[in-house]
Amino acid sequence: MSEESRKVIYSAMQPSGHPSLGNYLGALKNWKDLKNDFDCIFSIANMHAITVRQDSANLRKKTRDLITLFIAIGLDPEKNIIYYQSDVSAHAELSWILNCFTYMGELNRMTQFKEKSLKHNENINSGLFTYPVLMAADILLYQTDVVPVGEDQRQHLEICRDIAERFNNIYGEVFKIPEGYIPKVGAKIMGLQNPTKKMSKSESDNDNNVIYLLDDLNLIRNKIKRSVTDSENEIRFSEDKPGISNLLNIYGAVTGKTPQDAEREFSGYGYGKFKEAVAEAVINEIKPIQEKYKELSADKSYIDSVIKNGAEKASYIANKTLKKVKKKVGFPIF
Ligand code: TRP
Repeated sequence: MSEESRKVIYSAMQPSGHPSLGNYLGALKNWKDLKNDFDCIFSIANMHAITVRQDSANLRKKTRDLITLFIAIGLDPEKNIIYYQSDVSAHAELSWILNCFTYMGELNRMTQFKEKSLKHNENINSGLFTYPVLMAADILLYQTDVVPVGEDQRQHLEICRDIAERFNNIYGEVFKIPEGYIPKVGAKIMGLQNPTKKMSKSESDNDNNVIYLLDDLNLIRNKIKRSVTDSENEIRFSEDKPGISNLLNIYGAVTGKTPQDAEREFSGYGYGKFKEAVAEAVINEIKPIQEKYKELSADKSYIDSVIKNGAEKASYIANKTLKKVKKKVGFPIF
């Protein structure tokens, strides 16, 4: 595909703790496969992260850990742009401008805002409220064609499109209108202890509910061994067997098979043997990532250079869009 005709993919992840197997199979693993066909831009959304209270030293560490992990899983800082959101001031600038083109009523309808306000009711700040506007700025600055996101971000993508269309209707074609892309395979990995809810720390108090990419390999084996199943002894991919279906989904996602293929492969297995096989497959996938992560973490100057180059490349593109926008709204341009 020629350089010019390549579409732009943009996505971002918040540095809010270590990524889980769910984050990996639902997002990161798919991102790395896009690099040859698209111009990929991935950011660490640390400006979104401060909408809830953070410990500064810890946030800085998690931000760096996440960019290191991005590279360890195979995002390529030469082919892709990987950067920190806070390094590109155009995000904050465009976000302010777009705030003036976004209605309170629209933001009031956001289900994530409602959920987060309930959870952090001691700190319902206006950043939490205008969070989708910053996300729209992220996407629109890069004239993005496609945004791979999870189901939970669908509403934010819709509002981004609405804001962009509204702006374009007033000022002409300034922004590309982005499409969402919700991957089919492995899009939703459920908790190991609570397999009817997505794999997330907040969905269960049980430490065994979530596998983290940087978990010790033996711990991963044990978490899978202890995962909740059902009282039958039949490996079947079906709605009434959420635990077994989730394991089949996980196995399928790490091996590149469909859950139905996996089901056939394990027909006649007992649950114990099946879990061992799933654990082995997961470990096979994660082990090289952990090794690479360790190696990269020790290479301070390399990671520093990735961060610096990423910020420069991202700023260059973002500032082009920002300049157009400033001109359109009537700010003096030099
Ligand atoms: N809000 C997203 C999340 O929590 C992260 C994010 C920030 C994002 N900016 C984005 C995702 C732009 C896609 C595009 O998952």
